[in-house]
Amino acid sequence: MTEHVKTEVAAGIMTLTLARADKKNALSNAMYSAMSDGLERAEQDPAIRVVLFQGDGDSFTSGNDLADFSAQASGKDARESQAFRFINNLGNATRPLVAAVQGNAVGVGTTMLLHCDLVFLADSARLMTPFVNLALVPEAASSWLLPARIGHVRAYAMFALGQPLDAAGALACGLANAVVPAAELRARAREAAEALTKQPAGSLSHTKALMRDMEGIAAQMSRESALFRERLQTAEAREAFAAFAERRKPDFSKLTAG
Ligand code: COA
Repeated sequence: MTEHVKTEVAAGIMTLTLARADKKNALSNAMYSAMSDGLERAEQDPAIRVVLFQGDGDSFTSGNDLADFSAQASGKDARESQAFRFINNLGNATRPLVAAVQGNAVGVGTTMLLHCDLVFLADSARLMTPFVNLALVPEAASSWLLPARIGHVRAYAMFALGQPLDAAGALACGLANAVVPAAELRARAREAAEALTKQPAGSLSHTKALMRDMEGIAAQMSRESALFRERLQTAEAREAFAAFAERRKPDFSKLTAG
C-alpha cells in the first residue's frame, strides 16, 4: 500500500493517479506495485473497461526513483524491483489504457505511453528517455517501439543524448492524440476514457491485441530487463546516480566500456 498512487474506480474507468508531487511523482517500488495491482485487477474485473493514468502536480512523473536505483546498484536493496512487474503488465494489458500527461514525463513516464492507446498532452509536456545519461538501457520494449513510432534517429537522440521532445514535437511524431491547455487536460482524457467505456469491450480488446505484437514485446522486454539489471551494477551507473544525488554532472571520462 502507498499513499502515492490513488486508485479510483467509477463508471467503468479505473483512474490511477500518481500523487507524489513533491518528488515530481518519482516512482518508488511501492508505487510500481500499486500500479501493477491496479492493472492486474483491471484485467480480472469485467466492470473495469478502461484504465486512465494521470499525475498530480506539475510533472506526470520524473521516472524511476533514483534513490531506489542507487540502493539497488549498491546492493543495499536486494528486493526484486516492481518496475519490471509494472512494465510486463503494461505489455500484457488488454484493457484500453489512456494517459493524461503534463510537464516532465521521464524514463518510464515516456516509455509507458508507448503502451497507452490514447495519449493527451498538456502544452507543458516534455517527454524524456535519458537512459544513457544514467548509464542504463531503454526498457518497456521502447528500444523497438520508440524507433518504430518516431524513426531511428529521433529515438536515438532521445535515448543516447537525453534529448527531450516537447508536446508539439510529440504530437507531430504521432506519440499523442492531442495537445491541450493544462487546465483542460484531465477533462479531455476522461471524456475519451468515457467514450471507450461505451464501446463493445470484446471488440476493443481484440482490436488492441491485433495492433500489437505481444509476443515480440514480451521478448524484447526480457532482453532489455536482463541488460538493465546488469547495467545497474556498473561503475558507470553508480557514478550517474551519485551525480544526481550530489546535484552535479556525472564524469564518465575515466570509465571505459570494458
Ligand atoms: N528520483 C528521486 N527523486 C527525484 C527524481 C527521481 N527520479 N526526480 C526528482 N526528484 C526529486 C528531487 O531530488 C527533488 O527533491 P528535493 O526537493 O528533496 O531536493 C524534487 O524531486 C524536485 O526535483 P527538482 O530536480 O528540484 O525539480 P526540477 O523541476 O528542477 O527538475 C526533473 C525536474 C524531472 C527534470 C529533474 O528532477 C530530473 O531530471 N529528475 C531525474 C529524472 C531521471 O533521470 N529519472 C530516471 C529516468 S530512468
